Amino acid sequence: MTLDLSAIRAQFPSLNRNVIFLDNPGGTQIARQSLERITSYLLECNANHGGAFATSIASDAVLDEAHKAMADFYNASSPDEIIFGNNMTSLTLHISRSISRNWQAGGEIVVTRLDHDANVSPWVLAARDRGCKVNWVNFDVEDGTLKLDELQKALERKPRLLAVGYASNSLGTINPISKIIQMAHAAGTLVYVDAVQFAPHGPIDVQNLDCDFLVSSSYKFFGNHSGILYGKRILLDELFAYKIRPAPNSLPGKFETGTQNHEGIAGVLGAVEYFEWVGKKFGGEHAEALLERGYTGRRLLLKQAMSAIRAYEFELNRAMLSALESIPGIRLYGLTDARRLEDRVATFSFRLKDIPPRLLAEKLAAENIYAWDGNYYALNVSECLGVEPSGGMLRVGAVHYNTLDEIDRLKAVLLKISA
Ligand SMILES: Cc1ncc(COP(=O)(O)O)c(C=O)c1O
Repeated sequence: MTLDLSAIRAQFPSLNRNVIFLDNPGGTQIARQSLERITSYLLECNANHGGAFATSIASDAVLDEAHKAMADFYNASSPDEIIFGNNMTSLTLHISRSISRNWQAGGEIVVTRLDHDANVSPWVLAARDRGCKVNWVNFDVEDGTLKLDELQKALERKPRLLAVGYASNSLGTINPISKIIQMAHAAGTLVYVDAVQFAPHGPIDVQNLDCDFLVSSSYKFFGNHSGILYGKRILLDELFAYKIRPAPNSLPGKFETGTQNHEGIAGVLGAVEYFEWVGKKFGGEHAEALLERGYTGRRLLLKQAMSAIRAYEFELNRAMLSALESIPGIRLYGLTDARRLEDRVATFSFRLKDIPPRLLAEKLAAENIYAWDGNYYALNVSECLGVEPSGGMLRVGAVHYNTLDEIDRLKAVLLKISA
């Protein structure tokens, strides 16, 4: 069964207006379940952590449940491996200080030019502090895929860390992340995966990937503004935590500094519950294969949801590619081979004739189509493509609440603008 879009869209109160949201890679709309969790947290159990009274006990129960829910979403082996924080960038800046603490001067690390800067600068800054060298892996500017031969070469130098994205927020490329992690581990290199752009589109399994760290942000997967970091327990246990003395020395508390955004963490739980609903309602046909792979309970439902979403998004991906390719004067960046839709999400960046991307975004906005322009903080991508000095690109990105009709409308508007 494919998704029933009217049932899906009914879960998103903000979709109830005459707007086409294609700014999803910048942030998705929020699911009702997430909103409800935020509201009920604030109304029913708003309290600080660790008190002896009912609201504090209830609050701690919600926070525990959210850790369990995200452990299920990532298929982590324990809720203690889940660290909540403000957003991906802050979590990465924070944990990078712990991870890099024992790097020796003269050591090396690897970052890529396909990544969002939030998975680049924290590591470049840490390397600078520790006197380490940064090696850069380029991407093929023709098809937006990472140069694995360059990665292999960089890994031969046995770097301490590889920071790499799961999917590009700019070009939509999905990296062969499993293979990349194996390559890195063969060199004894730790891998920090930025899954912010993959999380809304497909199933994540940190145990299967065997990644050391993985991070995402729930406002990109139908929740609120919160970041969620996974780390292998053995590594998190060992890492020194920059924390204040009264805070716990145990996981996950030692990395969750200060009073957390409790209502936001409740909202993340709600986002996971939304996926659970999707899995129950639309993911049945994937159940057998997923059961065979050992998923049960909520983990099974979440994987069913993400498999159903991924299957539906193939249609969106194909429709978007064909719509964009039909626009006279368009210059599409990244993977445009229709036989390689498996290797991308439905996030497309392009330029249209000589129209500055900002102006194009404004023209689309005037037609109630919301899209992003610029470099979207994937600064290296836009520099390598040579578009940075002239305003970057225009980005449209579909998620599973988008419809084929919306893509038709995008095409019609772009045709009008291009005429
Ligand atoms: C791939 C990727 N990584 C990291 C980030 C930064 O996430 P946050 O806003 O949660 O710091 C973004 C935000 O757009 C992103 O797309």
